[in-house]
Amino acid sequence: MPRVQIVRHPVVQHKLTELRDQRTGPKRFRELLREITPLLLYEATRDLEVEEVVVATPMGEARGHRLRWTIGLVPILRAGLGMAEGALQVFPEAQVWHLGLYRDEHTLQPIAYYNRLPPRPTVAWCFILDPMLATGGSAVAAVDILKRWGVPRVVFVGLIAAPEGLKRFEAAHPDIPVVVAAVDDRLNDRGFIVPGLGDAGDRQFGTASG
Ligand code: PRP
Repeated sequence: MPRVQIVRHPVVQHKLTELRDQRTGPKRFRELLREITPLLLYEATRDLEVEEVVVATPMGEARGHRLRWTIGLVPILRAGLGMAEGALQVFPEAQVWHLGLYRDEHTLQPIAYYNRLPPRPTVAWCFILDPMLATGGSAVAAVDILKRWGVPRVVFVGLIAAPEGLKRFEAAHPDIPVVVAAVDDRLNDRGFIVPGLGDAGDRQFGTASG
């Protein structure tokens, strides 16, 4: 898998464009996020290992494949919450580990405020879910936490990334793949992605940015 994979599928791009549109309200925004996440995960999981199994059909034996490892979904609060439901459609048995990170609006540094990971990893693959990778601080911090926890494989799955954030992420974690629907032009002086879609948390939950 290439380090940064942009999912250019027309259905993904169609949904992303509706998400970007400022006329899209919170209800439709949440629906779109739920719909687009399985499509991103479909691409992000191409390298999952499988094992061969044999099952009995009503007509005989069939060789097939079963996913080999347990999966963890790691939505980053708040905005990643909207991706968790869609991701659970792909992996209904996945464990969901919430991480709370917010970006200090002055320093733009990520602040961790919620982490209930158990002492030792209980999953082999973790998919971080967060719509936005802006300065990259939150994504880097999330991977730092998961690596310290000891999970063997981590993939970042998001909607939109900024080139500045990808550069920072790649410098910190060159081994971690990133799967997104778009890489936009730049960050503005408040650390927002341009053109982006605004604040993904506020747009999902109907809260005004201050
Ligand atoms: C947003 C977004 C990411 C982070 C990206 O969350 O969902 O978590 O910012 O920015 P970064 O790459 O510069 O770290 P925010 O801090 O606004 O918190 P929220 O989801 O609770 O609104």
